[in-house]
Amino acid sequence: MIVHEDDLAEAEETYLASLTVAEADGDERTIEAALRPRTLDEVVGQARVRDQLGLVLEAARLRGRAPDHVLLSGPPGLGKTTLAMIIAAEMSSPLRLTSGPAITHAGDLAAILSGMNEGDVLFVDEIHRMARPAEEMLYMAMEDFRVDVVIGKGPGATAIPLDIPPFTLVGATTRAGLLPGPLRDRFGFTAHLEFYEPHELDLIIHRSAGLLGVELEGEGAAEIASRSRGTPRIANRLLRRVRDYAQVKADGVVTIEVARAALDLYEVDALGLDRLDRSVLDALCRRFGGGPVGISTLAVAVGEERETVEEVAEPFLVRNGFLARTPRGRVATPAAWQHLGLAVPAAAPLTEPDGTLFDG
Ligand SMILES: Nc1ncnc2c1ncn2[C@@H]1O[C@H](COP(=O)(O)OP(=O)(O)O)[C@@H](O)[C@H]1O
Ligand SMILES: [Mg+2]
Repeated sequence: MIVHEDDLAEAEETYLASLTVAEADGDERTIEAALRPRTLDEVVGQARVRDQLGLVLEAARLRGRAPDHVLLSGPPGLGKTTLAMIIAAEMSSPLRLTSGPAITHAGDLAAILSGMNEGDVLFVDEIHRMARPAEEMLYMAMEDFRVDVVIGKGPGATAIPLDIPPFTLVGATTRAGLLPGPLRDRFGFTAHLEFYEPHELDLIIHRSAGLLGVELEGEGAAEIASRSRGTPRIANRLLRRVRDYAQVKADGVVTIEVARAALDLYEVDALGLDRLDRSVLDALCRRFGGGPVGISTLAVAVGEERETVEEVAEPFLVRNGFLARTPRGRVATPAAWQHLGLAVPAAAPLTEPDGTLFDG
């Protein structure tokens, strides 16, 4: 089943509509398409990945062959889909898009593979969520450009070998650790995307402002960049919300004052924490004395689903050193207390010198 980029959203879980959730929703995909870099040269940041990928593609072009299979891994919103599209564009090859959750049977994959032409790029988003039998079919296709299509059932079933023209698989995953080893090993090149530095986000925001026709001052861009969680998707989204504010409440120009006022209105604070992040920290510190507390209890305390707290808020809070996962539960770090403007209690967890909570 080949799906259009706009429909990929349906195959993914929908998260609460939050400004700082790194996943894209349906409408956002259309806007994103307009902001995506089209060539490797237009990609901002990720210098190492860009150089390595550039080399892989150039070498393939010189040999006149399809490039090796590429695995792109990293958190949402850092540019995996963008790079997949660029790979196809740089090779002047058609791109076929599908996603792990859309491949529920080996037959789904067989149908896609049997329709491939030489040199096509097949992009499988969220590749770790593909059905197991399809995964096995994919190893063989990646290595030998061949699959066995099983016709019939039971003792009468026959496997018909089917040759597939050489193609390039580009897999994207937010959870590289969930990929079975044999599948991971069949990628000739793996790129790990890193969170972006503020000055890189700054460039991305300026570029997007140019494309969207937003008048933007340098300090306004820097303000948005610093609240974007190292994530281009969030930077672009905050830019659009700030633009709305600038048009309605100011003269359309994104100054630092406008950016600050808008982001405060949308409750995205100076470090990029949103209302959910803050209420998690608030509950943890004020109601549970800094923890340790179980994630389910914490979720009830903030009135959210456990999954929302665990998958949306927690990764950012952990990465930024506000919250720690320990065997006994979630614990606030001194930085969390400080960020809430509270004194760090002497008895707070993680202030104990022996650091016993970190074991395990
Ligand atoms: N390196 C980059 N330079 C400029 N814009 C980027 C970059 N990476 C991502 N973006 C922007 O962020 C948005 C999300 O990127 P995307 O490739 O969809 O992320 P992912 O597939 O990893 O979730 C895109 O619309 C694109 O405009
Ligand atoms: Mg994507």
